[in-house]
Amino acid sequence: RKRVVAFISGGGSNMLALAKACEAPDFPADIVAVFSDKPEAGGLAKAEVLGIPTRVFERKAYGSKPEHEAAILSALAEIGPDLICLAGYMRLLSGDFIRPHEGKILNIHPSLLPLFPGLHTHQRAIDAGMKVAGCTVHFVTEGMDEGPVIAQAVVPILIDDTAETLAARVLTVEHQTYATALKLVASGGVSVHADGSVERLSSETDATAK
Ligand code: GAR
Repeated sequence: RKRVVAFISGGGSNMLALAKACEAPDFPADIVAVFSDKPEAGGLAKAEVLGIPTRVFERKAYGSKPEHEAAILSALAEIGPDLICLAGYMRLLSGDFIRPHEGKILNIHPSLLPLFPGLHTHQRAIDAGMKVAGCTVHFVTEGMDEGPVIAQAVVPILIDDTAETLAARVLTVEHQTYATALKLVASGGVSVHADGSVERLSSETDATAK
């Protein structure tokens, strides 16, 4: 089984969904630690309830972004995970952080990438007149929300949606989509081509959440 460190900044519902998926005996991964950049992140308590070790790396405890990332990298090196899952981690990782782990960092973003990367994604989808929204799990590369797509799921945008009601609807499909994507990657069921496209090698796992 692949050893996964999850990075969170907030409520940690995606991290929890991954941890619950990992409880299945045939799931090919385990969450071995949860890292947060926010001491107040609600997901820390959720991890502790499950007995998953947590570490907090608060940005303001470090003099610079490189020092902050160096502390996280050194904690990662002690654990030696196979994969890193960003699960509502609201900080952009530098190229120096990503490069040594390229192809091993997954992220979930609450839009149908490449549409609406970055912040305020739900309001931007509504303002653009979109009739569907969704979530994307992708490999992390240096560009924000730009890496190869592993799995996506779609939800409708309803006529009276606000950013909040849409975010809640998207979140309900994020959990299953992230678990499915992690299963695909951890089982070796995907391969990334030079052009950045992701090929699913296994037809058994449907990476489109129902
Ligand atoms: C999720 O909607 C996730 O997709 C989003 O933050 C939320 C975290 O919820 N991530 C981003 O916006 C990253 N750019 P959670 O803490 O309950 O998993």
